[in-house]
Amino acid sequence: MTLKNITKKYNQGKANEVQVLKDISLSFQKNKLTAIMGRSGRGKTTLINVLGLMYKPTKGTYKIKETDVFNLSETEQALFRNQHIVFVFQSYFLENKLTAF
Ligand SMILES: Nc1ncnc2c1ncn2[C@@H]1O[C@H](COP(=O)(O)OP(=O)(O)OP(=O)(O)O)[C@@H](O)[C@H]1O
Ligand SMILES: [Mg+2]
Repeated sequence: MTLKNITKKYNQGKANEVQVLKDISLSFQKNKLTAIMGRSGRGKTTLINVLGLMYKPTKGTYKIKETDVFNLSETEQALFRNQHIVFVFQSYFLENKLTAF
């Protein structure tokens, strides 16, 4: 997995625009565990959401196994996510009303 110049802004073009990721370039090695560390609000969850194809970055490219994933259609991205990515959410959004029954 390789990221090149990944930038992520929220609320782009609005008064409350915030740039969270600035030109992030890095690659992850196969069979290696990688931890992303940093103080609260520094963009860890944002980066992980980009890595998991949940958020599209404002700029930059992301390759997984030679596939330029943000060039795929939404449907192809969903299929790719389904087949290659495991995601444990920071917020689970469990609904009290919705029990297993
Ligand atoms: N959907 C959003 N819209 C606008 N701003 C956002 C959004 N999500 C996150 N932010 C802002 O982006 C910045 C980075 O947030 P992020 O959740 O990625 O940080 P984090 O490193 O995961 O923090 P924590 O350690 O508290 O989980 C923060 O300033 C946050 O307020
Ligand atoms: Mg977080």
